[in-house]
Amino acid sequence: MKLTDLKQALKDLGLEYSKIKDLPAEERKAFGQEINRRKNEILAQIQAEEEKLAAVDIKPIDLTAPMAENSTPKKNRRGSKHPLMVELDKVIDIYSNMGFEVMESTQLDDEFHMFESLNFPEGHPARDGYDTFRTKEGFIPPAHTSTMQYRALTSRRDQLETEGQIAVVIPGRVFRNEDVDATHEHTFYQCEGVFVSKTATMGQMLGVLKNFFETYYGQTLNTKTQPGYFPFTEPSLEFQIEKPKALGGKGDGWLEMMGCGMIHPNVLKTAGIDPTIYKGFAWGGGIDRLVILKYQLDDIRFFESGKLNFLEEF
Ligand code: DAH
Repeated sequence: MKLTDLKQALKDLGLEYSKIKDLPAEERKAFGQEINRRKNEILAQIQAEEEKLAAVDIKPIDLTAPMAENSTPKKNRRGSKHPLMVELDKVIDIYSNMGFEVMESTQLDDEFHMFESLNFPEGHPARDGYDTFRTKEGFIPPAHTSTMQYRALTSRRDQLETEGQIAVVIPGRVFRNEDVDATHEHTFYQCEGVFVSKTATMGQMLGVLKNFFETYYGQTLNTKTQPGYFPFTEPSLEFQIEKPKALGGKGDGWLEMMGCGMIHPNVLKTAGIDPTIYKGFAWGGGIDRLVILKYQLDDIRFFESGKLNFLEEF
């Protein structure tokens, strides 16, 4: 019997003593002796059990020990920010320090913000270039953060008179119905920039962008532009940086990092801003691409994979 059972048995036996007084006088003696015999028996067993236990070498439990002996060590997994979000914060900080406000993007949009407001008339062939997803109800998960331009412009239109300018950046998640490979993802992040004032120039824009990339990569960079085409800018440019030497560049590789340009007068007009008075520039580029270069990753798909061994490297 276990020690606890023996102790219970002893207790139960104790109750038997009270029965003695109800017995006929001649039976009391024998009954009492029997109970005493059983009691001594149990006490002897308890003593034996206690001696057995005392002989066992019991180690005190170390509550601070990280793991049980012989068990596989369990790593204490702490959650952390996704590397893209960490880098996105850095991107936002750089623009904030330059005086840009930050506006949040939407993850579900519509034809008007995706196309009409950005000077893509209906049936415009450039609409096809954006590989847009559509919901059954006809909504569009934004294929670029430019869908936010109209909102940035209309919500801050009054600021043009009070402060003389609109200066906003809009980070956001974007979606494209593309075949996925090491350099293409259906879901990625972009950051849009919009600046409007009476005197905005292309030179200012190039200054902002060069400053942005040099701050992000922490080194001076060679930059250049190429003519591009976007319905919402005129002229439109592609902004390129020379692959940083510190990141394995040999001084000969140009990387296209962003689309940019002077905001098309039609975009300003649609947003209720007079393009004969105000000018603007805008730009937009992928965050994933920025981060891939910084950490010299070779597959964009890691970011959305949820693979812990990838995430733990950061
Ligand atoms: N939205 C464009 C894209 O994803 C990039 C872009 C080009 C953004 C020119 C702009 C711009 O704001 O002015 O391909």
